[in-house]
Amino acid sequence: MSLGKVARGLVLPARVALRPAAPVLHRSYAAVSEARAVLESELEGIRVAGTWKAERIITSKQGPQINVEGSRSTILNFCANNYLGLSSHPEVVQAGIDALNTHGAGLSSVRFICGTQDLHKNLEQKLAEFHEREDCILYASCFDANAGLFEVLLGPDDAVLSDELNHASIIDGIRLCRAKRLRYKHMDLRDLETKLKEAQSSRLRLVVTDGVFSMDGDVAPLSGICDLADQYGALVFIDECHATGFLGARGRGTDELLGVMDRVHIVNSTLGKALGGAAGGYTVGPKPLIDLLRQRSRPYLFSNSLPPPVVGCALRAVELLLASNEISQSMTAKTMRFRNKMTEAGFTISGSAHPICPVMLGDARLASLMSDDMLKLGIYVIGFSSQLCQRAKQESVFRSPLRTQTKTSTSVWTPSSRRAGSTESSPEQHGKIKSSNRNELLNEAFALRLSCLLPRPMNDGDGRNG
Ligand SMILES: Cc1ncc(COP(=O)(O)O)c(C=O)c1O
Repeated sequence: MSLGKVARGLVLPARVALRPAAPVLHRSYAAVSEARAVLESELEGIRVAGTWKAERIITSKQGPQINVEGSRSTILNFCANNYLGLSSHPEVVQAGIDALNTHGAGLSSVRFICGTQDLHKNLEQKLAEFHEREDCILYASCFDANAGLFEVLLGPDDAVLSDELNHASIIDGIRLCRAKRLRYKHMDLRDLETKLKEAQSSRLRLVVTDGVFSMDGDVAPLSGICDLADQYGALVFIDECHATGFLGARGRGTDELLGVMDRVHIVNSTLGKALGGAAGGYTVGPKPLIDLLRQRSRPYLFSNSLPPPVVGCALRAVELLLASNEISQSMTAKTMRFRNKMTEAGFTISGSAHPICPVMLGDARLASLMSDDMLKLGIYVIGFSSQLCQRAKQESVFRSPLRTQTKTSTSVWTPSSRRAGSTESSPEQHGKIKSSNRNELLNEAFALRLSCLLPRPMNDGDGRNG
C-alpha cells in the first residue's frame, strides 16, 4: 500500500467524525438560498428601474469601426474612450508585441519585491516629461491611483475639498483618507471659497476635481480654482482621464488648455483611454509625494506590476505624442464639426468644446430604445447609468471622432425604416430631432461615439461612470 493511501485511510475517518451534523448543513443551505433571494431582488430592482447594464461582445480590435457579435456588418463605434485612435495604432500594437517578446507576459510580483523593469521606469520618466512634473508613479489603473493617493497625502489634521460630481474612484479614494471632507457644489467657485474658508485651520488643504467631467464633458474652471488655491493656501489635484493626450495645444491636458500647468500640483490620469487604451494609471507631481506613494500607497504596494506588453503599448503612445502635436491637434476640428452638425440637426448638446458631447434627449426610455435601434442600423451606442436624475433630465452622449476614416455608408433611422405597428417611441415623437437632417448627420458622424445615460437613484454621491 502506498504512503498516500495509508495517509488517506487515516484522514478519512477523521473527516467523517468532523462532518457537520445535518441541521448545520441545512442551516448553511438556508443561508445560501436567503442570500440568493436578496441578490435576485436587488437584480430585479435594477431591471425594473431600467438601469440594467447589458454588455455587447466586440469581436474585433477597438477602433472607429468594429465587429459586434450578432451583427453581420461592420459597426460604427460611438462608444470608446479611444480619443486619438491609438488603441489599434500599428506602432502601438507592435510595441506591445516587442515588449512581450523581450520582457515576457508579466512580473508575477509587485513593484517593490521584484516587479520593476526598465520599461516601467522608462514609462514613468516619459509621463513625468509629458506632464512637465517632477516624477511619476504607475498603478494598475487610474482607479487605483485615485484610491491610493489621498490617504497617503492627507491625515486627520488636513482637509480635502472635492467637487460633488467627481469620479467614483476619487470619491472612494477620499473615503479612505482621514482628512476632513468638504464637498463643494459642481464647478461652483463661490461654494469652493466658502469651504476653503472653513478649512483654514487645517494643516494642508487639497482641492480635488476632475479636469473634465466624464458624463458631461464639462471642463473644470481651473483658473478660478488655482486663484482660490493661491489665496487660501491650498494644493490643487486634477483627474485628467478625459483630457490627457488631446486637450491643450500639445495634448497635455486641461491644465495646459487653461494655462495653469505650473499651478496644478498633482495630476492623476489613465493609460486606458487616449494613451493606447490598454490599462494602467499614474500620478505625476512633486518628487517627495511620488517617493512617499512608493513607500505607502496600498494599491501600488499590494498589487501586481503592470504587464510589459501593456507598458510597451503605453510607452509608444506617449512617445508618439511627445514627438509631434499632430495627433493631439486632430481632435478639435472634428469635435466642433460634430457639435455644429448635431446642433444644426436639432439636438441639444451641452458642454462647449470637449469631444464628450452630451445630447439631451429628455427621456430615459427613448435613449435606451434609440441605442438598440441604432445598433441595428450599424451604429454602436450604449446605455449606462449615471446620477443624472438629480438634474431631472435624460441625456445621451456622443463623443467626437477618434480619427478620420473613409466615408462609411450607414443606414439611417428614419420614420419609414421603423417597423409597422411598433410601439417603440421615436425621437420625432419627442420633437427633439429634425428628421430631414438625419441622413446628413449620420453620414457626418463617421467615427463618433454615443452613450445613452440612464438615471439611477442618487445616493450619497457614489460617483460617476467614465
Ligand atoms: C474621470 C475618471 N477617473 C478615473 C477613471 C478610472 O480609470 P481607469 O480605467 O484607468 O481605472 C475613469 C475611468 O472611467 C474616469 O473616467
